[in-house]
Amino acid sequence: LSFVCINNDGQIDNLKLLLQLKTIFTRQLPNMPKPYTTRLVFDRQHCSMVGLKGGLPMGGITFRPFLPQGFIEIVFCAVTGDEQVRGYGSMLMNHLKKFCQERMRVFRFLTCADNGAVGYFRKQGFNDEIDKKDRAMYQLYIKDYNETTLMECVIRPDIDYLA
Ligand code: ACO
Repeated sequence: LSFVCINNDGQIDNLKLLLQLKTIFTRQLPNMPKPYTTRLVFDRQHCSMVGLKGGLPMGGITFRPFLPQGFIEIVFCAVTGDEQVRGYGSMLMNHLKKFCQERMRVFRFLTCADNGAVGYFRKQGFNDEIDKKDRAMYQLYIKDYNETTLMECVIRPDIDYLA
């Protein structure tokens, strides 16, 4: 297993991985319109933490950094069907936490969680009790979808999430 954080930088290897990740998202998130998923995965303002097993993506998390505002928005998160419930979803999130802590110095994660995935996000340290002021700020930058729950996770600078 390995984990890489990539974006559409034009490199062929990264483009191949993003294409495979996009296919996982379109299968696992069937309510999202395919062109929308494709557009965001390849959008240069978005990055993806990709989990690789035998060199192939088994899942990933696509996110958009809002550095001046001090948060990232998790846009898509999925693990391929036959690899779910094996701990890979937690590993992906922990690698993302470490990456944001060390490389981006960003300590807040935000997501509009599908209601079926709220339990997964809670296990990763997310909650939906968001301060009113923060909620108003977030809503200036992110789209809030129907049938989702806005959830936030605050990263502690002193925790090693991969320990
Ligand atoms: N509801 C409640 N708890 C869950 C769920 C769920 N849907 N999925 C996993 N968990 C729990 C597990 O039981 C586990 O708990 P434990 O640590 O006490 O054992 C913990 O969360 C971590 O489980 P993993 O095995 O790491 O999770 P997995 O590898 O299956 O990945 C994921 C979770 C990403 C939600 C995966 O099941 C998936 O791709 N589902 C379909 C797509 C989806 O719903 N994605 C999220 C949409 S919201 C968005 O993208 C912003």
